Amino acid sequence: MRVTIFGSGYVGLVTGACLADAGNHVVCVDIDEAKVERLNRGEIPIYEPGLETIINRARAAGRLTFTTDAAAGVAHGLYQFIAVGTPDGGDGAADLNAVLAVARGIGEHLADYRIVITKSTVPVGTADKVRHEIQAILDRRGLSVEFDVVSNPEFLKEGAAVDDFMKPDRIIIGTDNPRTAELLRTLYEPFNRNHERVLVMDIRSAELTKYAANAMLATKISFMNELANIAEQLGADIEHVRLGIGSDPRIGYEFIYPGCGYGGSCFPKDVRALIASATAAGYKAEILRAVDGVNQRQKHVMFEKIRSYYDGDLDGKRIALWGLAFKPNTDDMREATSRVLMEALWNAGAIVQAYDPVAREQTRAIYGDRPDLVLCEKAEDALAGADGLAIVTEWREFRSPDFELIRSSLREPVIFDGRNIYDPKLLQRMGFRYFAIGRGESVVLDAAPARISA
Ligand SMILES: NC(=O)c1ccc[n+]([C@@H]2O[C@H](COP(=O)([O-])OP(=O)(O)OC[C@H]3O[C@@H](n4cnc5c(N)ncnc54)[C@H](O)[C@@H]3O)[C@@H](O)[C@H]2O)c1
Repeated sequence: MRVTIFGSGYVGLVTGACLADAGNHVVCVDIDEAKVERLNRGEIPIYEPGLETIINRARAAGRLTFTTDAAAGVAHGLYQFIAVGTPDGGDGAADLNAVLAVARGIGEHLADYRIVITKSTVPVGTADKVRHEIQAILDRRGLSVEFDVVSNPEFLKEGAAVDDFMKPDRIIIGTDNPRTAELLRTLYEPFNRNHERVLVMDIRSAELTKYAANAMLATKISFMNELANIAEQLGADIEHVRLGIGSDPRIGYEFIYPGCGYGGSCFPKDVRALIASATAAGYKAEILRAVDGVNQRQKHVMFEKIRSYYDGDLDGKRIALWGLAFKPNTDDMREATSRVLMEALWNAGAIVQAYDPVAREQTRAIYGDRPDLVLCEKAEDALAGADGLAIVTEWREFRSPDFELIRSSLREPVIFDGRNIYDPKLLQRMGFRYFAIGRGESVVLDAAPARISA
């Protein structure tokens, strides 16, 4: 089958590569010329495990190409996926400019029947807007061309995106046209063999399902972070509490890890966009507001612990920071907690010696070269001469480090662990001061600070 994908980011690239790997002929269209050039040279602009292999395989087979030419894209595929970004527009609501620009481009070049599929995470009602944009341009062109608009939200996780796409938990098809549902079902057949994963529903429910999923996951995290803060105040250990509640099958162990806040390109903006949609519809979404507020506060917990340990004097202190990406196995720095921590440390006069297995270049692209940021090639290099170690992202390589080396490299044996990856008793026995989340030494948090930029 012939497929066109607008947007070659985390979602578009993975979708294009996986569909091409299944035998389809895929054209990926992006407005970023430099990105398209890199992709055509065989360079993969993002870090995503397994992606390079399937892109190379599909390119070698001649089934995957990249272009900036929207007209060629519209001419190519029966299936026209929109997988461009929908960032926070500044007021919490999703910015639909890129999505609607793609819709207009499709309208400009449409000549035969096409299925336009919104894969970007978009507010309820966006499919109507996409249809309207395309139709308005067709009317202006004086053409009558049939097309359908389908909502097909994406649930892949960065860091496991290829696996998630190949073996999805569900494939949601939002459409009011049974024939279109069948055409989508056919496209997804290679990813639906093990058991039935396709759920066909109306467009608005499909659009809302994506936000509901992310809001639920964000709620679990903020709930656990709230409990962790309460545990600290009450002298309980949140890790015991986590196991105690996870054992209840109605609660379960998944996704109830306390930490220093969620980030990334999805949860923060999607929770805010859902709040904005609800507000626009006249409903005050109180749980969602709390989820967002708790998360913004939680992103400052690490700094508060560090500041309190150094009695408020961080001027000239060197902090080793392990983990920059918003979570392991990705180089994505969007709304990463590390950014909140680094910026707070810099404001207080501290110097950050940071290490991340893959996100160093992304960090350099955001902050440039600055004297208070040292980006290190190895985890050990970040420790050398630092006053203390802060862990923000739970990369596997941090889980079982050489504690003797950490102790001898740091000026003082102190670890601030934002992901609770070590055993407090072990570290105490080894002579460390160990500050984790919701386990022991507490810090009182003030009101929610200003939110960070995306
Ligand atoms: N990243 C994730 O894990 C994830 C998961 C599920 C859903 N989503 C959603 O998928 C969408 C895309 O997310 P992403 O992380 O892939 O974004 P991204 O920022 O990585 O990529 C977006 C791409 O779209 C391109 N683009 C912008 N305007 C364009 C246009 N008019 N025509 C063609 N290309 C254009 C950009 O140049 C960029 O390459 C968002 O709505 C996001 O919420 C993301």
